[in-house]
Amino acid sequence: MTDPAELPKALAPNVFPPESVDLDGVHLRRPTLDDVEALHEAIKSSFTELSMWMPWCTDPVEIEQQRGFLESAMSSWTSQSMFCWLIVGAGNDLIGTISLMDRIGPGGLEIGYWLRTDATGRGVMTRAAAAVTDLGLALPGIDRVEIHCDAANLRSAAVPKRLGFRLDREEHSGVDTPGKSGLHQFWITP
Ligand SMILES: CC(C)(COP(=O)(O)OP(=O)(O)OC[C@H]1O[C@@H](n2cnc3c(N)ncnc32)[C@H](O)[C@@H]1OP(=O)(O)O)[C@@H](O)C(=O)NCCC(=O)NCCS
Repeated sequence: MTDPAELPKALAPNVFPPESVDLDGVHLRRPTLDDVEALHEAIKSSFTELSMWMPWCTDPVEIEQQRGFLESAMSSWTSQSMFCWLIVGAGNDLIGTISLMDRIGPGGLEIGYWLRTDATGRGVMTRAAAAVTDLGLALPGIDRVEIHCDAANLRSAAVPKRLGFRLDREEHSGVDTPGKSGLHQFWITP
């Protein structure tokens, strides 16, 4: 697979999506450093599922790692390389994150996501990914949004499938978490 650092950027300078989005029953917002404890707790409570697929979710999960992630998410928004929103529920509880990343070359943005395990099974990520896809496609110069996942990650692949993305291709890649098969899927907006 191509090294994202070698690809030209898709976004022109000073192009940003909204920092906060209201969806049916959940809210997306830009994180701050004050979110570190809630983020840490959500990740710890979801360790069994996250560690199967997310290479950054290692045992033990350290709060300093989440602080580093939040710092990088804040600066990546400013530099336009990644727009990360926290997904918060009706009670303002942090139930996951979704990001739009400028790392797949001209015309395209990639979505990445995870949910707190006890917030799965309710269509939250499908709604969030639909909204973020629309936000991405509304940005100047963007004509496709992609979701990448391992072929064995059926719950993740079900999200783009439900949204009508097409499976563009599969490529062999490394296995860096216990759940992965090593076959990487590329789902793309039609
Ligand atoms: C990938 C992940 C976010 C998917 O979560 P999810 O809960 O399956 O996805 P959604 O929130 O869209 O919910 C879909 C489920 O809710 C159900 N649902 C209920 N109401 C729904 C609605 N209005 N719309 C869509 N689905 C709905 C669907 O039928 C589906 O249920 P099923 O899994 O029994 O088929 C989650 O499994 C996760 O965080 N995994 C670990 C991290 C990970 O793998 N990240 C991606 C790496 S590529």
